[in-house]
Amino acid sequence: MSKITIFDHPLIQHKLSILRDKSTGSKQFRELISEIAMLMCYEATRDLELEEVEIVTPMCKTTAKRLAGRKLAFVPILRAGCGMLDAMLNMVPAAKVGHIGLYRDEETHKPVEYYNKLPSDISERDVFVLDPMLATGGSASDAISIIKRSNPRSIKFLCIIAAPEGIEVLSQAHPDVQIFCAAKDSHLNENCYIIPGLGDAGDRIYGTK
Ligand code: PRP
Ligand code: URA
Repeated sequence: MSKITIFDHPLIQHKLSILRDKSTGSKQFRELISEIAMLMCYEATRDLELEEVEIVTPMCKTTAKRLAGRKLAFVPILRAGCGMLDAMLNMVPAAKVGHIGLYRDEETHKPVEYYNKLPSDISERDVFVLDPMLATGGSASDAISIIKRSNPRSIKFLCIIAAPEGIEVLSQAHPDVQIFCAAKDSHLNENCYIIPGLGDAGDRIYGTK
């Protein structure tokens, strides 16, 4: 089973309640996705290694800590994962970015791949896959299988809302991938939407419905 971390931080939970509300418009929805992603990034990068460096402050010489050159890559799953990207890049500007385009077929609910561009040196990087929604788990599992073909050093999956069904599918397919989410919801409905969820994340970010 994958290790799963559910963020119960009050700031995240407060923002999530506004995100779920159907009266929240696209502008605020985008801002909230970004703010939650930033807070999640803070926790999900907790295990990055540090090294001591010598620096000179205006007062004296001292040693301080810097990230120990670990290279990161962020891979949003199009479209909705892009809503989390800027916040992650604001925290780690040196990260490289890949994109994987997947959409769920409306009838089968299975993911269909339409785009794939990853950093050429991804085998030297720790990858964070971004998508606000983990529903059936098909999109996340397929995206991670695609990324694994390029042998990254490690993969973490960051989502905002996860269904129990999706956690199960992703954990079975990729037990080595740690899952981070802000909430584990109740179940999927007959159309494979998360209940209570927040509706269609891509449509709410981009105002397409
Ligand atoms: C949504 C979401 C995930 C996927 C999750 O994308 O952003 O990628 O569904 O569902 P799953 O776990 O059942 O695969 P969608 O397919 O609606 O595409 P979009 O982001 O382009 O709207
Ligand atoms: N994709 C979404 O955007 N929302 C869901 O509830 C399920 C899949």
